[in-house]
Amino acid sequence: MEPTVDTSFLLLAASCLVFVVFYRSTRLSSPNPKRFPFPPGPPREFIFGNTRQVPSAPRNKYDEWKKIYGDIIYTRLFNRHNVVINSYKMAKEAMDRAVYSDRYHTVIMDKMVGQGQAFAAINYGQRWKTYRRLMSPYMHKAGLERYIPVHRRGNTWYLQTLLDRPEDFMKNFKLKTAKNLAEIVYGITGESAVDEYIYHSEHVMRVFLRAILPGSFLVNIVPQLRYLPDWFPGTEFKRIAAGAKRSYHYTISAPVEDVKSKMAEGTAGTSITSDLLERGEDEDVIKKMNASIYGAAVDTTVSSMHTFMLAMTLHPEIAKKAQAELDAVVGPSRFPTRDDQVRLPYLNAVFLEVTRWKPPAALGIPHCLSEDDEFQGYFIPRGTIVYNNIWAMSRNEAHYEDPNRFWPERFLDPGLAPGKHALDPRLYIFGLGRRQCIGKHFAEASLFLTFASVLATFDIAKARDESGREIVPEVDFDAHLKPFKCSIKPRSGAAAALIRDAVAANP
Ligand code: HEM
Repeated sequence: MEPTVDTSFLLLAASCLVFVVFYRSTRLSSPNPKRFPFPPGPPREFIFGNTRQVPSAPRNKYDEWKKIYGDIIYTRLFNRHNVVINSYKMAKEAMDRAVYSDRYHTVIMDKMVGQGQAFAAINYGQRWKTYRRLMSPYMHKAGLERYIPVHRRGNTWYLQTLLDRPEDFMKNFKLKTAKNLAEIVYGITGESAVDEYIYHSEHVMRVFLRAILPGSFLVNIVPQLRYLPDWFPGTEFKRIAAGAKRSYHYTISAPVEDVKSKMAEGTAGTSITSDLLERGEDEDVIKKMNASIYGAAVDTTVSSMHTFMLAMTLHPEIAKKAQAELDAVVGPSRFPTRDDQVRLPYLNAVFLEVTRWKPPAALGIPHCLSEDDEFQGYFIPRGTIVYNNIWAMSRNEAHYEDPNRFWPERFLDPGLAPGKHALDPRLYIFGLGRRQCIGKHFAEASLFLTFASVLATFDIAKARDESGREIVPEVDFDAHLKPFKCSIKPRSGAAAALIRDAVAANP
């Protein structure tokens, strides 16, 4: 249909408005009195800056620019300053400064979805400190111990699914992780409540992860676009935001309201939420603090499990070594426990290599500067979005010889990697500075327990096609959770019986 005069006029007016906003937005406001330069970066275009060069999945582009510009790269998307830090040493130095501890508030998540006070999104300040103070005790040793029975039950349930439906090994791992979390955070155990919790949390997380990527939504750069009418071409982002808003409101309210009514009936199970409510902590704080946990915890943990299964499929000799260690330390008649971890150095090295080889959060969660800063002779203005390039840190050849090789031994014996010091990836895969992942001990404990119990009871190998040929899964560092086939078989009848007995004893 031809546009009517009215429509054409509106299109023209909107285009002019967008242009004026673009133009004004390219004028930079920070003073920079000492005239320090910005960090090095690719040449910028008039008005657009580097907007047209930064793809929405920018990891490869950053790899390319790292070779040209080094460990710190500056780009500008319209008027937004972006800095990418590629080395651990430099990222640590920056992130240790409090001014790097705000978050990047995207227009879509903050203004349109209303998620600005969620744990991972809120700015550094009093309310964020309250979140960390309230959540920390549950994420450290003593707090974790309290939820070990939930992890253990989840683990044996998962092992049973590997016996019955091994082809669903990823789907069921995700379900196990989400169920454990729903139970630990809210005491949710009923199937439909868990499903609903997962559905809405996943929805918000998908939009959040997209929103924080540079260049993903134009409205994050030109906020005025959100006032365009819904029928206006290119306003799909409004529908996306409205859907995420509904889900976000569900995640902050419904599970906590459910705990409250169960507490009133006297039927609430033990959970972080019931604990905090009993202590009289602020309800709004509990709601918004807890609502980020699913998004931060599930995808990252699932990604590590995916990498583990892929690595074990590709490297049966490594799986065999870890199994020999488990057989010697744990034996065949029980499951490994967290206390065994210190006596399983090879499996520990496998854990470290899994997290390094394919880090779950390749660009972390972006930080934002609350004040102008001078860093390494460069000017970094207030409001700059800073990405810690965790992927680049994991590929640093000064720390990791042959970084694309899956090679746990690099963490065991420095003699095996002459002149190379394998940096512990836990120093950066969980982010850096004050905003470092609060769930890192939780993640390590639950992943280690799963890796150990899967290897103790199952053999993982390459699957075979109809003609009996081995299927070698592709390693694609860009793809997220790309499905692959493998063979998962119980190591013995005794291993299968151990699993069935454990599930029967603790359904
Ligand atoms: C392998 C698993 C995990 C990885 C790789 C991971 C990684 C990360 C990263 C890179 C950040 C951003 C840090 C920064 O801004 O510098 C983060 C933040 C966060 N993570 Fe994790 N995470 C994992 C598991 C978990 C788990 C299990 C939980 C909770 C149970 C959790 C809760 C959080 C929260 C709440 C934040 C936001 C912290 C803040 O902004 O102050 N994460 N995580």
